Amino acid sequence: MTTLQAYALRTEYRENPLGIDISAPRLSWRLKSTVSGAAAAAYRVDVSSEGSADQSAIGSAAWSTGWVDAGTAVGVTYDGPLNSRTRYTWSLTLRDTDQTVIEAGTAWFETGLLERDDFAGGWVAADTTYDIPEREFDPPVDDDIPTSMRHVPPAAYLRRAFTARGPIASARLYATAHGIYTAHLNGDRLGSAELAPGWTDYTERLQYQTYDVTDQVKEGENAIGIVLADGWWAGYVGFDARRQGNHYGVTSEAWAQLEITYADGSTDRIVTDDSWQTANGRIFYTDLLMGEYVDARRDLGAWNTPEYDASGWAPVATRTDDFSTFLAQVDAPIEVIDELPAISVVIDAHGRALYDFGQNLVGRVRVDFGPLAADRSIILKHGEVLENDELYTANLRTAQQRDVYVSAGADSNVFEPTFTLHGFRYLEIEGLDEPVPLERVTAVVLSSATPPAGTITTSSADVNQLISNIAWGQRGNFVGLPTDCPQRDERLGWMADAQVFLPTAALNADVASFFTRWLADVRGAQTAEGSFPDVAPVVSQFFADGAPAWADAGVIIPWHLYRVYGDLRLLETSYESMTRWVDFIEKHNPNLIWTRRVGNHYGDWLQIDALTPRPLMATAYFAHSAELVAKSAEALGKTADAAHYGELAARIKQAFVDTFTGQDGRLEGDTQTDYLLALAFDLVSGEHRENAAKHLAEAIDAHDGLLTTGFVGVSLLCPVLSEIGRDDLAFALLETDRYPSWLYSVRQGATTIWERWDGWTEHAGFQAVEMNSFNHYSLGSVGEWLYRYVAGIEQAATSVAYERLHIAPRVGGSLTSAAASYESVRGLIRSAWSLEGDAFTLDVEVPPGVTATVVVPGGDTVEVGSGQHHFTSTLALANA
Ligand code: BGC
Repeated sequence: MTTLQAYALRTEYRENPLGIDISAPRLSWRLKSTVSGAAAAAYRVDVSSEGSADQSAIGSAAWSTGWVDAGTAVGVTYDGPLNSRTRYTWSLTLRDTDQTVIEAGTAWFETGLLERDDFAGGWVAADTTYDIPEREFDPPVDDDIPTSMRHVPPAAYLRRAFTARGPIASARLYATAHGIYTAHLNGDRLGSAELAPGWTDYTERLQYQTYDVTDQVKEGENAIGIVLADGWWAGYVGFDARRQGNHYGVTSEAWAQLEITYADGSTDRIVTDDSWQTANGRIFYTDLLMGEYVDARRDLGAWNTPEYDASGWAPVATRTDDFSTFLAQVDAPIEVIDELPAISVVIDAHGRALYDFGQNLVGRVRVDFGPLAADRSIILKHGEVLENDELYTANLRTAQQRDVYVSAGADSNVFEPTFTLHGFRYLEIEGLDEPVPLERVTAVVLSSATPPAGTITTSSADVNQLISNIAWGQRGNFVGLPTDCPQRDERLGWMADAQVFLPTAALNADVASFFTRWLADVRGAQTAEGSFPDVAPVVSQFFADGAPAWADAGVIIPWHLYRVYGDLRLLETSYESMTRWVDFIEKHNPNLIWTRRVGNHYGDWLQIDALTPRPLMATAYFAHSAELVAKSAEALGKTADAAHYGELAARIKQAFVDTFTGQDGRLEGDTQTDYLLALAFDLVSGEHRENAAKHLAEAIDAHDGLLTTGFVGVSLLCPVLSEIGRDDLAFALLETDRYPSWLYSVRQGATTIWERWDGWTEHAGFQAVEMNSFNHYSLGSVGEWLYRYVAGIEQAATSVAYERLHIAPRVGGSLTSAAASYESVRGLIRSAWSLEGDAFTLDVEVPPGVTATVVVPGGDTVEVGSGQHHFTSTLALANA
């Protein structure tokens, strides 16, 4: 009897995706077995289509791979017929090495709208000529509406009633917005997506969402509704001092297409058009940065039900579109991923209630105020830290993170904003006589729903807190796209931040579709000349010409995703843009030292007491990008390109050595980051390499055993130290809590990664308010080292998609154990060690079809196949 099992059957990285439009979707699965050495010998995928609007396709066999003699597959490309609005069910059959045939599971994907002609209707918006109620309040609090929000329009409520002619067989809603929206049918809010459609470069790409509304549409009278807000389309996010708000448009607008298939096979389509109506309701204004103002006195009641009397509503404004920017949602939506109760409340010196959630997080609050007198206005402010026991919001810059709730005098008042997003640990409530009890104050955590992939834990509580801080930084900043920070008026897709953190991120979670989607905006933002930007989507031309290490993300990220997920398609799609970027740098820097067209050159951003020469850093990245393009060319079978870029990389490396090496192999600037770049990017060899290793250790010594690295250097720090045989230094840097260090912030009570090593210090207090986020993931890039080196979950240097593992855990510092697991695209990998006295044990799990070299500390190096393996050794630590 076989023990081989398949699990996690995915289409384009997603579990049973509804409404996809990729022309040849890839199907994948992972394997597990309880028996060592288990492996699949062959697989077979059979696809059938069912339930298509085109009845002729129902139940028909669509496609089969036939038996394929291969053990694993990280993406079988579906090559059968593909029609719009069709559900394709695929079943996987495996044959193991004993010739046993295993029915290994089924999954499905459903197509959305594949042809331009499939889209109908047009945009609907609140008619701006419609009489928006005056913003007049019995002023409960004088500064009820901050100046910044006086021109932000109320959320638009949009609705249409319709009749369904008979019993329903199935119904789908396709919808999106220029703005952000929620969709409603017969009183229900649809789906789990928040802040849909998320942020893409709307001039090029706009994701639509698909909802299965078969259960919501009823025979007879129905009502469909949408609530629409500015979001990224017209709101304040954008960081362009010349243009506050309105980055893509002035008025938000919504599009929806409801398709009903009746039991008799006939269909109806309800689209957004001039039959819709609009009104303003309880959301008086809302903005991602500023906050949301909910006025319960303006509640519309059951506005999204068929019984509602909408006679007072106004007609909508309409606009047509050619749908050329529309595409189906690529990644998992932003969702509520967690809820945290408030853990304490204190009344501050001004009588305001200050709640603590115990965790810096990203999302919003839900407060059940209970009964409130009419016209009572309550102000809710959000902040990450306290100063003198009061909420500290100076670091938000122009962002407000401030919600308002105005009561209509009802007995029940539950407040939860819909279209805003705050970065906070503390909530201050002003305007109540008595604080709301803790159990009625909840933080609602929002994030892109990237499936969890890795876990890691060690014997050190401080290191575990650091690991938690890294994970929370990822959750809070992976919201539709990788952002720098979630609280101040920035929240942009900064590319270096994403690039340095990606290796850690991809171990914590399955980020394949998340980055696939964002990379389309990265490529789209490339200038005609070939420059990648600093941020994507680009909202200001100030960021169009990217800086070294920032723009290089356009090369580094597709390559890294290829290594992790084996995604050759993404590499292929990105390839041309990658070559154009490297060609662009070369064209402007023919002597191969990158000094021209460096954009905003940020250097090793936020380093401490060190200045890495910018030409040196830039040239190192130039060499690295050229090398990764060469490797990509090789992976894609482009031999001539591989030779060309390989040779270019070699010449840049030579120019680097010739230009920046001084006496005794010291590099210009003599900083830690200098040597980290040289060693990590393989810029130096032989004697130069030995010198660089020596000088790196000295540069740490020279700073009293502490780091000086900024965003760029820090991601290389511990991995390079391990590679040059200095685990001792890597562990010392990890475990010190002297400033600057990771554990310094942990010691100060951090629950996320800070933007700056000195976000707050005993000697200087808070850093400058102009730039001091307490939730920036970049310095958390050390997570990669914890997984790959400390726990030892690593693939061999030339392996792709974890086909060959190299498990070589490092033991050091005060750690007596470390354990990590990682759901790779082939299956679960685990490595856990512990040290008691000098007795070392290591447990390793290798998925079917994968082999591993295990380097047992103090023991042998062993080759193993799949299964669970236990090793012991006697380990006398040098520093024990
Ligand atoms: C952002 C960063 C970004 C940097 C560029 C900052 O304002 O928050 O994380 O990478 O600018 O130097």
